[in-house]
Amino acid sequence: MTQSNSASGNGAAASRGLWSSRLAFILAATGSAVGLGNIWKFPYVTGENGGGAFVLVYLFCIAVIGIPIMMAEVFLGRNGRHNPITSMRLVAERNLKSPVWRISAIVGMIAAFVILSFYSVIGGWAASYVGHAATGDFTGGTAESIGDLFGGLLASPVQLLIWHSLFMALVVMVVSRGLKGGLERVATILMPALFILLLVAVGYATTTGHFGEAVSFLFTPDFGALSINSVLIALGHAFFTLSLGMAIMMAYGSYLGRDVSIARTAVSVALMDTVVALLAGLAIFPVVFANGLEAGAGPGLIFQTLPLAFGNMPMGSLFGTLFFVLLLFAAWTSGISLLEPVVEWVEEKTGLERSGSAVMVGVLCWALGITSILSLNIWSDVTPLGMFARFEGKTIFDLLDYFTANVMLPLSGLLTAVFVGWFVAKESLKTDLALDGGAFQLWFNLIRFVTPIAVSIVFVYNLMS
Ligand code: PHE
Repeated sequence: MTQSNSASGNGAAASRGLWSSRLAFILAATGSAVGLGNIWKFPYVTGENGGGAFVLVYLFCIAVIGIPIMMAEVFLGRNGRHNPITSMRLVAERNLKSPVWRISAIVGMIAAFVILSFYSVIGGWAASYVGHAATGDFTGGTAESIGDLFGGLLASPVQLLIWHSLFMALVVMVVSRGLKGGLERVATILMPALFILLLVAVGYATTTGHFGEAVSFLFTPDFGALSINSVLIALGHAFFTLSLGMAIMMAYGSYLGRDVSIARTAVSVALMDTVVALLAGLAIFPVVFANGLEAGAGPGLIFQTLPLAFGNMPMGSLFGTLFFVLLLFAAWTSGISLLEPVVEWVEEKTGLERSGSAVMVGVLCWALGITSILSLNIWSDVTPLGMFARFEGKTIFDLLDYFTANVMLPLSGLLTAVFVGWFVAKESLKTDLALDGGAFQLWFNLIRFVTPIAVSIVFVYNLMS
């Protein structure tokens, strides 16, 4: 590790450990970024929003808003060298600003905890679908039989609980082993594996005879199909897919060596995340088109449309299994990153061992997840905020999703951008980011003006609509 001549904020570094290399950080951060958002959500929102034009807007949002915020978060973590909340307080104090700014990390960490509670439930679906695919449950399936399979899973609290518990256990197991033995090790094995599986899946998609159709769907911009709403969705998704606004990149940045370029690293992570999303599209749409299925099928695309296709094509069981293993790996590394910030905080605040902190936070989060499970069946009529028109019919699961995605993430991201752009000394940013003049000025303008304005627009729009 080349961790010697460190400047400010590196005091605790020696004892808390650092990523062993820039690549280790990139793989772990990419593991966080690449998740259900890339493989499940990106293809279906692209399908619903007309394809190519949406992809272009999305790429623009990643570059202009996603990357600058990611840099700001990694900067805060590395400069503070503690859990996200303490890091933000320290950076604020060093800049003679109010420690109240740490609210941004607090909101982000609560969001991470809540999101993990239901992310684990969905991760559990992926795990259960590995089993279904492998045992040939999709074979010869009809829309009805595949629909029943999914419906049956959601209707069974016991099945859901088993898979949710398994997924959470996988996450806790890794986080409890710490940075090098846990997070880093899993990322360096799973991310290359995920890339290979994805390439195999794309290779398979080229044999369906509908690859060209998928390419033109994804890359031929039809601006007529693009609405204001699509633009906002693209921006929101850019945020979610890069795991921003959840204190994750702060936590991961807190273990980053000072000799590593934050800008280059953030660009690499964003690039890999985007490549995975596009490859997932190239793996999924040819299969969808080959079977005459609906590209804009919505959230059911992965759990209903695709299994139908897998069940009716040559070697479908094999490739179906492979596909859901891929999804499970992607969800697993993201789950790990959701647990890490909170565990880092508990560990530093209570002096508990890492493994004890991980188990404690994991159990609490698992318990909260049960409310999402019950929302899908026994409590499907329980709508705690149903008296307000806008929340009518929303279950607890829906509400947790709504408040984290539409309120907490943008709020945390907005505060982070404003704090870093307006309240941290420019000199300190220059030193830490080590960018040359023009590049620095570009980033600085983006984080000061463009990002806060764009995030505010989405924020207000989502609250109003
Ligand atoms: N970035 C992940 C994805 O695209 C989602 C995620 C959100 C992961 C929050 C971790 C935290 O699926």
